[in-house]
Amino acid sequence: MSEIANTIFSPELAARFDKLVTIYPLRRSALVPMLLYAQDEVGYVSDAVIAEIAERIGLLELDVRNVLSYYSMLRTKPAGKYNVQVCTNISCMLRGGYEILDHCKHKLGIGHKETTSDGVFSLEEVECIGACCWAPAIQINYDFHDDLTPEKVDVLFQMYRDGQGKDVK
Ligand code: FES
Repeated sequence: MSEIANTIFSPELAARFDKLVTIYPLRRSALVPMLLYAQDEVGYVSDAVIAEIAERIGLLELDVRNVLSYYSMLRTKPAGKYNVQVCTNISCMLRGGYEILDHCKHKLGIGHKETTSDGVFSLEEVECIGACCWAPAIQINYDFHDDLTPEKVDVLFQMYRDGQGKDVK
């Protein structure tokens, strides 16, 4: 049974949160991981997510919103089923990162932080994702794709549409 009577989270996540707030010396240290887990389950950090996490940790909702606004990987609006993050930091930029970003924009018909009308893809320009040695790189949800060309991106998007995204190299 969860600490919160009317939780918005699944029983599994609620149980995970019950434990998470007990393992740090300060309860608020659990805030960022909780926001990330909640985002994974709900799709974004909604007002309801903010309210429940604040209650679980014993913070004001304003405290949660302040942290939320600092981290670009946390979002307050729904993303597409596949969130495409294109790195344009130095290694990727030198190896065509902006070309990849422009190609994604053109191919998907959306801009930075936008979602396709069918809800399948959303797009973000991001800072280094730690795949510099294989630039240019993108991340789709939690999967990395690197050494990209516009042609490879086309194949990749089609495979995600076909439900085979994780196997694309
Ligand atoms: S600069 Fe793009 S992954 Fe590091």
